This record gives sequence, structure tokens and C-alpha cells, in this order.
Amino acid sequence: MMSLNEEIARRRTFAIISHPDAGKTTLTEKLLLFGGAIHVAGAVKSNKIKKTATSDWMEIEKQRGISVATSVMGFNYGDYKINILDTPGHQDFAEDTYRTLTAVDSVIIVVDVAKGVERQTRKLMEVCRMRNTPVIIFVNKLDREGRDPFDILDELESELKIRVRPLSWPINIGEKFKGVYNIFEQSLDLFTPDKQRVSERVEIDSVDDPRIDVAVGEADASKLREDLELIEGVYPEFNVAEYLDGKVAPVFFGSALNTFGVKELLDCFVQIAPAPRPTQSEERVINPEEEGFSGFVFKIHANMDPNHRSCIAFVKICSGKFERNAPYKHIRLGKTLKFAAPTAFMAQKKNVVDEAYPGDIVGIPDTGNFKIGDTITSGENLHFKGLPSFSPEMFKYIENADPMKSKQLDKGVQQLMDEGVAQLFTNQFNGRRIIGTVGQLQFEVIQYRLEHEYGAQCRWEPISLYKACWIESDDAEALAAFKKRKFQFMATDKEGRDVFLADSNYVLQMAQSDFPKIRFHFSSEF
Ligand code: G4P
Repeated sequence: MMSLNEEIARRRTFAIISHPDAGKTTLTEKLLLFGGAIHVAGAVKSNKIKKTATSDWMEIEKQRGISVATSVMGFNYGDYKINILDTPGHQDFAEDTYRTLTAVDSVIIVVDVAKGVERQTRKLMEVCRMRNTPVIIFVNKLDREGRDPFDILDELESELKIRVRPLSWPINIGEKFKGVYNIFEQSLDLFTPDKQRVSERVEIDSVDDPRIDVAVGEADASKLREDLELIEGVYPEFNVAEYLDGKVAPVFFGSALNTFGVKELLDCFVQIAPAPRPTQSEERVINPEEEGFSGFVFKIHANMDPNHRSCIAFVKICSGKFERNAPYKHIRLGKTLKFAAPTAFMAQKKNVVDEAYPGDIVGIPDTGNFKIGDTITSGENLHFKGLPSFSPEMFKYIENADPMKSKQLDKGVQQLMDEGVAQLFTNQFNGRRIIGTVGQLQFEVIQYRLEHEYGAQCRWEPISLYKACWIESDDAEALAAFKKRKFQFMATDKEGRDVFLADSNYVLQMAQSDFPKIRFHFSSEF
């Protein structure tokens, strides 16, 4: 039997993030193959709404079904227990991804070598930076024509605002791609285009080893040596502590589709990526090694079957050992609950588990006890912070379209917001409710679910809004003066916090310069 400390030390809980199409699904699948969690490529593939932004309901429902199974993918790799937390591929569900990032200890970012850093990646990196999450970058699709690797490194640094350090280096790219030199382990892997097989490794002593010349030809070997010399000159030696602080991101090159460079990534990842880290609660810092159990809900997954209003609450375990049927305290409700059928996700199968450890995620079947952000503990009163909401990008008034069903609408809206589907703001001036989302698809999901799960009809009305930002001030008078001046544009979020609705960038800038004592925040965590 392993001790609690040993169980913690062997866990690696992380998420893979990318702009759609960079290769997240393919990489996830290859990692699962290495872990023996799946046996054929293609098994994870269906786990995404294809990028066509059309609202294909079958697809969305299918996605919701599949993503229960793939929300967490746990598997053993050597002595390590790996938990990959899936994030939705579709960018309209980015909010979901932000929250998932609060439940991981590190992140792997996938970047397409031809496209470089794309919009979604930039945004997700902002969230990582806010929390100093350690990131490893995988530059993918080296088998295709793409950009010069030095250019990519520059772009990663400037766009993601983090220092980078290559730990592997490609020999050519596209048609001429020959392989990757592993700087971390000082070895050479030759590229064989093959979707299943692991690459061929050439044993070498150092970068000067003549076996490199034999393997890739003299010209490419000397180019490699030049590149490596430049790398050593430009980039300081890789420092694990800096990586763990979120200050520097190691970079690997490869081709997920060809299973090339993936094992190198994984082997380095398990060595350097952090085991479960302490979690900040409002009361104090919680160490995973503590006896007392604690965890928080970071995701709620509604049942697809509208006849069963049940869902699964995903609990990230922060400290202690979680045990089935043990009495745990639901802090917000002040109730003691026992969970008879917690599930864990191993090798793509959902099983009832008797125990779980920090870093693990358990799924708890629920009929309305849980909201996103809820804390459960073995007794201590703790409140975990840090499930940030970000200022949405799109806004619409939500109106009741069936006067006979207004109760159903209210209940549906409230529950969907508790589940974190979108954000609700109530205008203090006219009492109208505004829904804020990241993308159009969320409005459609809300309307559909209100109708099918709650029997309510809603209607959307346009509102011209640029941003909603949370405001605060140390000066109560200044805050009151601001709220009075902007009374038509003041709202509250679902926790009752003050939110300023700016209808244009200009108005926002003016407000910022006219009211220097007010702080404007673009995420709810401040
Ligand atoms: P995503 O989850 O980030 O959205 O990306 P996904 O893995 O689905 O990959 C997007 C596309 O890029 C897929 O092609 C996939 O096969 C391809 N791809 C992934 N890794 C590599 C690579 O290393 N090299 C090359 N050349 N292509 C790669 P698709 O045509 O959209 O899907 P499919 O129908 O071929 O599966």
C-alpha cells in the first residue's frame, strides 16, 4: 500500500490547450496510446464538435454525452498516475476551459508550426499566467511545411509573454523533415512517417557524434550543430524551478499525427511537471499532504436525458484521501453528505471508486446540491477561491416568451448559470436580465436546454454592449458617485457584485480616466 504522500507524488494532473485544429485531440490520443489506455488511434476523435459553427444539435448532444466519458482521462504511465482534463474544442465554450484550468497543476500547449500562436491560445495563456501555471509547449505538424523554428520561438515569447527554452530541435521541416534532436536527453530520433509506430532512436554520445552525420547526412548535421550552438548562446540553460514558477516554458517539436516527438514530450513531462500543488482557499493555503479531505467542484455536467434532472459534479481533490460513503461537509449548504457512487475515469472507463487522492477528479452524481465553485471537506470550513469569470464577449437580453412558464424560465436560467453555461447580469436600472457569453453557440445551447429541460421559452433581444467589467474602490464615496453617474449602466452579477456595462471602448476609456479611484476588472477574480 502506498502512503498518501507517495500517491500524491506520482500524480500529474494537466490539460492540453490549443487553438482548434492545432492537434490537441491527436496529441491526447497519442498520450493515451502510450499509457495503454486505448489501443487504436481514432478512439478519441469523436470528442469534439467539428469546427463548423453551425448549430447541429445532434452533434452538441453527442458531444455532451461523449465528454462525460472523456472529461477526465486517467491512466498509469510507469510509476506515474496521469490525469488529463479535457477541454472543449469549440471556442464558444472557452469559459469551460478557463475553469478547467483552475483544476490542473500544469498545461501542455499545442501550436501548429505553420500557423504559430493563434487567438485562442493567446487567451488561454493569459489564464495560465494569472495563476503561474507551468506550461510546456509542443510545436506540432513538423511533417508539413511551416515556419522557421527560431521564428516560432520568437513568436511564442512575444505572443504568449513567457520565456521559452527549446528542449528538442527539428532537423528540417516538411518534406525534408528528418527527425528531432532531443536536447533534454541528448539523443537523436529519426522520423519515419508512421501513425502508430514509435520513432527510431540513434544512440549518440554528444552533438559531435559522427553517427549523427551518418544518420541525417553531413549538411543537415552541421546545420543542426550550428543551430544548437545558437540555442545555447541565446537561451539560458533550462531551469526546472523557473518552469515550475511559470517563468519559462520548455518547447518540444514533433508531429502528433505521426507519433513523433510525443514520447519525448511525455517522458520529460512526467519528470518535470509538478505533482499536485497547494491550493489557496480564502482561509489559508491547503497542502495536498494534509490529512483532512478537501476538494471543489470545477465542472458540472448535466444529464442528456431531460427526464432525469440529474448531473455529474466534477470534484477536484485538493487534500487528503477521498473515500466513498464518508461523511463530507458541503460548505455552502452547511450540510453533511455521503457519496455512494463516486466515479473515476480510468482508461476511458467510468468506474465507481472507493478512494481517490489529491490531483484526482471524481464525478459525483448529483440532483441539484452542487454549483460550480462549491467546496466539500471532511469538516473544516474552507472556501476555495479562484474560479474566475471573464468579461464575456457577447451580450443579449433574455426575455420570457411564454408568460405561463415564467417560473420554469427563472429556475432554468438560475440552474444553467450555476452550472456555468454563461453569465447573468441584472441591470439595476430596468431590472432586465442580460446573458453574457463567449460565443453565439452558447445562446443556442441555453435556448435549447431551457426548452428541453425546463419547458421554458426564451427570446433574445439585442443589446449593444462592448464590455462588462467588475468595479471596486477603496473609496466608498467615489464608488457611490460612480454608480450614481452611471446608474443606467450598472448591473449586478449573480453574486451581487457591481458590474459596469460599457457600451463602447470609448465610454470605457473615458470612465477609466474620469474616475481614477475606481478599479475596473475584466475577470471576477481580483
Ligand atoms: P484539435 O483537437 O486541436 O482541433 O486538432 P486535431 O487533433 O483534431 O487535429 C486537427 C487536424 O490536424 C486533423 O486533421 C489532424 O489529423 C491533423 N494533424 C494533427 N497532428 C498532425 C501532424 O502532426 N501532422 C499533420 N500533417 N497533421 C496533423 P483533419 O483533417 O481535421 O482531421 P482528420 O479527419 O484527418 O482526422
